[in-house]
Amino acid sequence: MNKTIEIIKSRVSCRSYSDRRVPNSKLEQILEAGKFAPSGVNRQICNILVIKNRKVLERVREALLKSNKRECLYGANLLCLVYGKRDEPLLVQDASCILENMFIAATALKIDSCWINQLDEMLSLPENKKLRARLGINDDERVVGSVIFGYRKEGEEIPSKPRKEDFVRFLK
Ligand SMILES: Cc1cc2nc3c(=O)[nH]c(=O)nc-3n(C[C@H](O)[C@H](O)[C@H](O)COP(=O)(O)O)c2cc1C
Repeated sequence: MNKTIEIIKSRVSCRSYSDRRVPNSKLEQILEAGKFAPSGVNRQICNILVIKNRKVLERVREALLKSNKRECLYGANLLCLVYGKRDEPLLVQDASCILENMFIAATALKIDSCWINQLDEMLSLPENKKLRARLGINDDERVVGSVIFGYRKEGEEIPSKPRKEDFVRFLK
């Protein structure tokens, strides 16, 4: 099979991370892959926010724990948010392309990842206004999705989930 398609097929969501840090050289490649995603009419309406700062990550983790009543970051020490102006009609489509490019690039670099969906709702709560300001996400902006990157805990095996039989339909 083609190498790129093999990598796409080997991507899985990881929900248990070790303390090992993603080297900057690899993070830069992941971000570059995100930047080179397609965008509607080439308007490039999204931004990527990288959070490595331990104190800020801890604030995000605690706020998510409070709003969702469960651990949402799974011990990862690198979080990237993809966001843009909420009134942009193609915001979700553009952001999703960026996120997927980053997932695939990470997989190619043997870095684990998982989409984290709770950021926008959490950052919209009045009690998290200061945290939102610290992240520099304006009120007219929306976090479409976030991704954690890192290395899975040693010995952790994550099987690929089977895909449904009728996924693809060929028109007769
Ligand atoms: C839009 C979207 C939102 C997701 N949100 C979360 C999430 O908040 N937390 C989480 O652990 N996984 C989340 N996931 C990961 C999915 O649960 C995962 O992709 C799915 O179970 C298939 O498993 P796989 O990624 O290993 O193929 C999300 C995935 C997508 C595409």
